[in-house]
Amino acid sequence: MKTYPIVEITFSPTGGTKKVADQISCYLGNITNTVNLILHDVSFSDVTVPSDSLAVIAAPVFEGVIPDIAIERMKEIQGNHANCVVIAVYGNRAYDDGLIQLKDTAELCGFNVIASVAAVAEHSIMRQFGSARPDEEDSKELKKFAEEILEKLSSDKELSTDYFVPGSHEYKRLGNLNVVPKASASCTGCGKCADACPTGAINKNNIRTGDSSKCISCMGCIAACPKGIRKLNPVFLAAASLKMKDLLSGRKPNEIFL
Ligand SMILES: Cc1cc2nc3c(=O)[nH]c(=O)nc-3n(C[C@H](O)[C@H](O)[C@H](O)COP(=O)(O)O)c2cc1C
Ligand code: SF4
Ligand code: SF4
Repeated sequence: MKTYPIVEITFSPTGGTKKVADQISCYLGNITNTVNLILHDVSFSDVTVPSDSLAVIAAPVFEGVIPDIAIERMKEIQGNHANCVVIAVYGNRAYDDGLIQLKDTAELCGFNVIASVAAVAEHSIMRQFGSARPDEEDSKELKKFAEEILEKLSSDKELSTDYFVPGSHEYKRLGNLNVVPKASASCTGCGKCADACPTGAINKNNIRTGDSSKCISCMGCIAACPKGIRKLNPVFLAAASLKMKDLLSGRKPNEIFL
């Protein structure tokens, strides 16, 4: 089956979203270009996706929707009528309005969104849920999804973009979590957490804390710390895990709509 030059566009603070996007992209073709929407102080307005390539756009679901900052950065990109697959990655609770929001946003950018995927990755706050996903079983499913997408692309029929996707166009954010990870006294001041922060919430002159007015609680700084000493308040984490246990348990599905 014909494969495609892939432009992979991701917002992935702790890497789960990127893992899913990489797997699907590799099955669809060769990644010729990557756009990292995590980078702050960067303009994405000069990103124009060639019309003969296939874009893979992936972002995580935070509180039922895609984080505002990912949507804002994505909106700067010119889709140029290129075909596109959107992937909303969620942490084993639910993707709510995240997938439909991602599809709508890609369409606003000028992409033809020929397939929409929801996929599970480890929950980036409570990592015991969806732990180690995407796993082997997920990989097989993601491969199958890619095959379905390639089949759609190779068919003679006009590529439909008005298929059903769950969720509401009135995207509803379910909460307003504002917890800022902090570093212990053994912080070396290496600055990796500040570089990884998508919102510039960590000031290198006061590196052990973060600006709560900028922080989106994405956990990117925790994932970036080589010493493992940047953490959330353990009391908050234990209470949240207990409260969310039922909603986050069991194996939630990967789904494709096309
Ligand atoms: C602030 C925040 C809110 C989240 N909200 C949800 C949610 O509503 N539903 C869900 O299933 N997972 C939720 N998650 C889990 C993430 O969607 C999931 O872990 C995803 O893989 C994170 O992307 P990343 O690995 O690229 O950082 C949330 C995670 C964070 C940090
Ligand atoms: S300070 Fe907040 S926004 Fe920045 S990486 Fe850490 S959790 Fe994410
Ligand atoms: S990455 Fe870790 S060790 Fe380095 S400055 Fe940040 S908290 Fe300190």
